[in-house]
Amino acid sequence: MTYKIAIIGGDGIGPEVVAEAMKVVDATGVAYEPVAFDLGGARYLRDGTILPAADLEALRGFDAIMLGAVGTPDVPPGVIERGLLLALRFELDLYINLRPFLVGPSALNDGVDMMVIRENTEGTYAGEGGFMRKGTPHEVATQGSVNTRMGVERAVRYAFDLARSRERKHLTLVHKTNVLTFAGDLWQRAFDEVAAEYPDVDTAYHHVDAACIYFVQDPGRYDVIVTDNLFGDILTDLGGAVAGGIGRAASGNLNPARTGPSLFEPVHGSAPDIAGTATADPRAAIISAAMMLEFLGERAAATRVREAVAKSDHVTGSTSEVGDAIAASVQGEN
Ligand code: IPM
Ligand code: MN
Repeated sequence: MTYKIAIIGGDGIGPEVVAEAMKVVDATGVAYEPVAFDLGGARYLRDGTILPAADLEALRGFDAIMLGAVGTPDVPPGVIERGLLLALRFELDLYINLRPFLVGPSALNDGVDMMVIRENTEGTYAGEGGFMRKGTPHEVATQGSVNTRMGVERAVRYAFDLARSRERKHLTLVHKTNVLTFAGDLWQRAFDEVAAEYPDVDTAYHHVDAACIYFVQDPGRYDVIVTDNLFGDILTDLGGAVAGGIGRAASGNLNPARTGPSLFEPVHGSAPDIAGTATADPRAAIISAAMMLEFLGERAAATRVREAVAKSDHVTGSTSEVGDAIAASVQGEN
């Protein structure tokens, strides 16, 4: 099987880290045909293109998409984020954003082994809202949170299935039910109803502000977490910070129904300040590539990549030197 993989390097350090991720995929021997898509802030600045309909249609035909990072400081906020990245999440129905955090004991904590499942198509990201009297002293801006029973339930079910497959079989719902009494109520009811179908999974509920304390002081209490889009966005940056740094934080934007390709990307952004300096840590992109291999069913290859990254703590050097060392380690295990 030769997989068709779309590559969106994007902006800043995006293309640099994706090159290393694909180098490591090469080392696994898994056969794939890459097709590069020139999309992102740089392309937009060049010719005004964000996501052509033809590109979106073409992307639907791939087995997976590997993305580096998109966004440039000279493009107003939201243009590329909404027009490209969120458009892909919504159009391809990538309803699960899976973000694993796995690191051994450190000065910060006794080790972290948790998976955050962020609902990826709804909430405040849905784009509901607008302006009235914009630009006047009486202007109004609203930005609602959209929570459908279907959208919440499919995220919650995915989380229960994942928790069931893990040793600890523990799932925490994170929300803010004490203040967001409409959205939180729907989430809690959906969670409780699905929980009844999974008597073997232990559950907990934490408010998101309390979860921030636990992430820092006692992340070991978490196994699997499920939460809404915006809470998940914020919480997973914190997760990266307490679990090896944002240079290790990987993600899979998944369409578990497999009605189209899933998209894999590091959690970090395009880091324009260090672009071109060869200092970006490619590990987050490499772990994202391992998630892609896993989702494609290439379990053994995925495990080899993860193990090589885990053994690479001592490796220093440029972006490509780190990629070379991890690729060599993967190949050594062939
Ligand atoms: C992320 C990013 C995106 C998000 C941005 C770039 C739109 O921060 O993937 O976490 O907010 O989801
Ligand atoms: Mn984010």
